[in-house]
Amino acid sequence: MAKIKAGVIGAGIGKYHIEGYQSHGDAEVVALCDINEEVLAETAREYGVERTFTDCEEMLALDLDCVSVCVPNKLHAPLTIECLTAGKNVLCEKPLARTAREGKKMVDAAADAGLTLMIQFNNRFRPEAQILKGYADDGAFGDIYFARCGWIRRNGIPGWGSWFTTAEVAGGGPLIDLAVHMLDLTMWLMGNPEPEICMASTYSVFGPKMEALGPWGTPNRRGRFDVEDMAVGMIRFADGQTILLESSWASRIKREWVYSTICGTEAGATLERVFAVDGIDDSAVDTLEVYTQEQGEAVDRVVKVEPDPAMGRHAAVRHFVDCLISGEEPISPATDGLRMMKILDAMYRSAERGKAVTIK
Ligand SMILES: NC(=O)c1ccc[n+]([C@@H]2O[C@H](COP(=O)([O-])OP(=O)(O)OC[C@H]3O[C@@H](n4cnc5c(N)ncnc54)[C@H](O)[C@@H]3O)[C@@H](O)[C@H]2O)c1
Repeated sequence: MAKIKAGVIGAGIGKYHIEGYQSHGDAEVVALCDINEEVLAETAREYGVERTFTDCEEMLALDLDCVSVCVPNKLHAPLTIECLTAGKNVLCEKPLARTAREGKKMVDAAADAGLTLMIQFNNRFRPEAQILKGYADDGAFGDIYFARCGWIRRNGIPGWGSWFTTAEVAGGGPLIDLAVHMLDLTMWLMGNPEPEICMASTYSVFGPKMEALGPWGTPNRRGRFDVEDMAVGMIRFADGQTILLESSWASRIKREWVYSTICGTEAGATLERVFAVDGIDDSAVDTLEVYTQEQGEAVDRVVKVEPDPAMGRHAAVRHFVDCLISGEEPISPATDGLRMMKILDAMYRSAERGKAVTIK
C-alpha cells in the first residue's frame, strides 16, 4: 500500500503534526509550508521534509492525500477551504475557526468535496481521556449530570502583541484558546449533550498592562492586547446537564491547572494536569482518579496511566491517518468543532450583554 502523503501548513504547533505523521508507519510528510522562510528551512531540515513552500497554493499542486492546517485562527477557514477545494483531506487545529459562521463554511466545504475534515481536539486522544471515555461508555459513571472543567494559568499570556492577543486574528483569548480543549473533552465524556443556554463573564486585567506573560517568545510592544485574559461561565444542556467552565491566561492563582471533573449518578472522576511552571509541559504531572461509594465507604481509585507529554497530539494525527486509510469518520469530526464554536460565540455574546443567552 502506498503511504498517505501529507503536507503541513504552519511550523509552530505544526511540528507535532509532522511528528505524528512520521510516527505512523503508513504516512509520510512530503511538504511543509510557512511564510517565515527561516522557520520553514529550519523545521524542514530538522524533520527531513524535502519540499518547502512559502505559498500554500503552490504546495497544493502536489499530489497530497491530506494537509494539516496549523496557522493562526483567522486563517483556518480560508486555508482549510482552499485545501478541500484542491481535493485534500484536512486536519485543522483547534479552534475550528474564529466564529461558528466561519466554521459552518468549512464543514459545508468538506461535505461538498466529500472529503474528511477533522479537528485537532487532541485532549480526547490523551491516554487518560481514552480510559475515562471507555469507563463512561461502559456506564461506570451512570448519567453524568454535572461537570466542572478548566484550563487556568497564573502567568501564561502567550506571545503578547502577536496574533494570539489580537482579537481580529485570534477571535478571543483563553476561552477560544484553552477552554476549548477541556470543554470539548468534558462534553465528549458526557456523550456530547445538546447545548442550550449559557452565561459567561470575561475579564481583561493583566494583559492590557503587559503583565503575567508566559514563557514563550518576546513581547511585541507594537502589537496589541484586545482579548480577554480570563473567562468563566456555565453551560446548560437540553437534558438538564450543567458544566461550569473557567479559563485564564493570567490570574492570581497558585499555578497552571488543567482539569475536568465529571459527576455521575454512579461515580465521578477527575482528570488533571498540574504544572510546576506555567506553560512548561515538561514540568507537568497528569493524573486520573475515579470516585465511588462502596459498601457505604468513599473509595478513591488512582488509575495508573503511561503519561503522554505530547497531550495526545501525535495520537490524534495517527488517528486521522487511520481514518483516511479505513474510510471511517474521525472521533473528532469538524461538526464537533462547529458545535463548540456555537457555544463559544454564545459565551462571548453573553459576556458582552451581561445576561444568559441561548446557544443557536
Ligand atoms: N492543539 C494544541 O495543543 C495547540 C497548541 C498550540 C496552538 N494550537 C493552535 O495551532 C494554531 C497555530 O498556533 P501556533 O502556536 O503554532 O502559532 P505560531 O504563531 O507559533 O505558529 C504559526 C505558524 O504559522 C505560520 N503562518 C502564518 N500564516 C501563514 C500562512 N498564510 N501560510 C503558511 N504559514 C503561515 C507562521 O509563520 C508560524 O510559523 C492555532 O490555531 C492554535 O490555536 C493548538
